[in-house]
Amino acid sequence: MANVIVIGAQWGDEGKGKITDLLSKSADIVVRYQGGVNAGHTVVVQDQTFKLHLIPSGILYEDTECIIGSGTVIDPQVLIEELDQLAALNISTENLMISQMAHVTMPYHRLIDQASEQKRGKRKIGTTGRGIGPTYADKSERTGVRIIDLVNANNLHEQLEWTINYKNVILEKLYDIPPLDPHEVIQEYMGYAERLRPHVVDSSLKIYEGIKKKRNILFEGAQGTLLDLDHGTYPYVTSSNPVAGGACIGAGIGPTMIDRVIGVAKAYTTRVGEGPFPTELDGDLGEQLCDRGSEFGTTTGRRRRCGWFDAVIGRYAVRINGMDCLAITKLDVLDTLAEIKVCVAYNIDGVHCEEFPSSSLRFARCEPIYETLPGWRQSTAQCRSLEDLPKAALDYLKFLAELMEVPIAIVSLGASRDQTIIVEDPIHGPKRALLDANGAPVNHQPHDSPHSPFAN
Ligand code: GDP
Ligand code: IMO
Ligand code: MG
Repeated sequence: MANVIVIGAQWGDEGKGKITDLLSKSADIVVRYQGGVNAGHTVVVQDQTFKLHLIPSGILYEDTECIIGSGTVIDPQVLIEELDQLAALNISTENLMISQMAHVTMPYHRLIDQASEQKRGKRKIGTTGRGIGPTYADKSERTGVRIIDLVNANNLHEQLEWTINYKNVILEKLYDIPPLDPHEVIQEYMGYAERLRPHVVDSSLKIYEGIKKKRNILFEGAQGTLLDLDHGTYPYVTSSNPVAGGACIGAGIGPTMIDRVIGVAKAYTTRVGEGPFPTELDGDLGEQLCDRGSEFGTTTGRRRRCGWFDAVIGRYAVRINGMDCLAITKLDVLDTLAEIKVCVAYNIDGVHCEEFPSSSLRFARCEPIYETLPGWRQSTAQCRSLEDLPKAALDYLKFLAELMEVPIAIVSLGASRDQTIIVEDPIHGPKRALLDANGAPVNHQPHDSPHSPFAN
């Protein structure tokens, strides 16, 4: 039995959907713990591509229970569209459960998100425009609507009428947007409530019962470490906590129940939206990565900004998440390059810096210091074991693992399930060694880590 968190180690879109789907084969329950329909997780199974926004990527396995947890924000319209799309593909969603404590994205949240971005002008965040920030803001302000309110029709009418009238003042006076008709919105949302009611549960209790029965539980993060509200590149972040710690709060369980944390990172870096990105590549190389990696947002279709792998943020992600091992995705995208750069440190105002600077002003001034490695210039898409990989590709992976001081458990070489090398089973295999052969504690100090990247 293991309870495992899968998190994004960069700025999102690392391939969490593919890795979660892969690991779901041995999971009994998969839980999404934060974020909303800003997420876009792609899972490719044979010739079918599934794009999931809210429903956990475990849904493709018939016997796996899926839970949209308390820390998420739910746009019911999009969720119902997602349910319909899966039904049209003959995927059962009977095993989907929705936390009664999750918050509901309302039409005014979407309007305020989009209008406030416009008002910010060049200070915009580059949000997905899905109302995520305003939904979480209302949750903190304690004016939010929860799933329990939605499915409890008695409360809904009274609560929404007050809230919509309150929001109408903001829409009209601040953003010059025509007011919403409370009765129309209430009617629309009562329809959604009917549809979602059979799925609504006390999800924290369901998860706890699963833990007591020693079921394998996977916690699927959305977004990535650098988009974390507290630990990311603020203010260019999302409004929730994608980091591993967020799984406990978002799922409603204690930290003692987590067995391990798997970080997912691309073999290079991408970012969507605004904000600093030290290793960003302008010009031909950036275009090449974008084209080969099909780097267009799953949710908004926006072109993703592309750059070299940044081991400084990688090490930071290892620290912030307490990462046990890594899944490196999209190695195949680098197949054609003659040489590959990796950012090993930053130059900030002439000072050499190996740690992620917590000041956003300093982060914006980081200049990457690169080490250059030879490329392998041959296809890796058909490799199914480490021995199949060209030596230069293996050396590249070892270099990343050494820099990040964490072993690599999975290497992904294409979007489909079989284009994967499982180096070490991250659920059932040994956890990262915390004791050495003599039983003495291993001190994972930065920069003194001679351990093999592929074994614990
Ligand atoms: P997520 O948000 O972290 O789940 O990632 P996305 O699904 O938004 O973006 C990752 C994209 O890369 C998807 O289109 C995947 O199908 C695709 N993908 C995942 N792993 C690989 C890989 O190893 N190689 C290639 N070429 N594509 C991959
Ligand atoms: P997945 O789960 C990549 C980015 C947006 C923007 C910032 C804030 O697919 O990895 P928001 O709408 O959340 O208020 O936008 O966060 N962003 C993502 N980038 N992948 C995602 O999700 C993202 N979700 C939000 O582009 O920069
Ligand atoms: Mg995505």
